[in-house]
Amino acid sequence: MWRAMHHRVPISSHGRWPWSPAQRNWPCRNKSDYHYYPLQWRQPYKERQLACGLQLYGALGIERTDKQRRREQWAANYRAFDAPVCLFFLIDGDMEAGSWLDCGMFIQSLMLAAVEEGLDTCALASMGEYPAIVKAELGFDEQTILLCGMALGYADHDAPVNSYRTPRADVHTFAHYYT
Ligand SMILES: Cc1cc2nc3c(=O)[nH]c(=O)nc-3n(C[C@H](O)[C@H](O)[C@H](O)COP(=O)(O)O)c2cc1C
Repeated sequence: MWRAMHHRVPISSHGRWPWSPAQRNWPCRNKSDYHYYPLQWRQPYKERQLACGLQLYGALGIERTDKQRRREQWAANYRAFDAPVCLFFLIDGDMEAGSWLDCGMFIQSLMLAAVEEGLDTCALASMGEYPAIVKAELGFDEQTILLCGMALGYADHDAPVNSYRTPRADVHTFAHYYT
């Protein structure tokens, strides 16, 4: 279901991955295998997403109008934030929603196991945005769905980006109790 990138891709010593699209002359066709987010945001998700973005750019000191730095920050996603290992999660294209749930649980289990090992992770939906490139490079057929990626390594707890926590909705706002 997933393969660790480090089997195929050495960590670049100069900060650029050897398989970057620019170096391989690939067309950067941006078409995900599925919609991670709704096409139309609505409340309460809209305000939560906005708040999350504000916290992120606030922690990094990036102004809303600073398109250059916003782009640079977004580009860091595709280096898995310089983590030594990037994982990709894929699922056979004929699997249905239940198996996608299974994959979600698998992914979270992996994140928890990483913590047990003293490692940190960052799930990366952004890594699913260029599936054609990833699948061609890793030898998966086009029917396979690229779900997401994940950075695996050691978090820099002093980095400003790790200085905030998104708020959590109170459990009573989404849990219904029936007695
Ligand atoms: C499935 C999934 C995909 C994600 N994709 C990205 C991503 O591409 N880029 C990113 O910066 N954060 C992404 N995140 C968010 C971070 O992994 C992390 O959740 C965020 O930094 C906030 O931490 P918190 O969940 O503890 O609030 C994703 C989270 C999940 C669960």
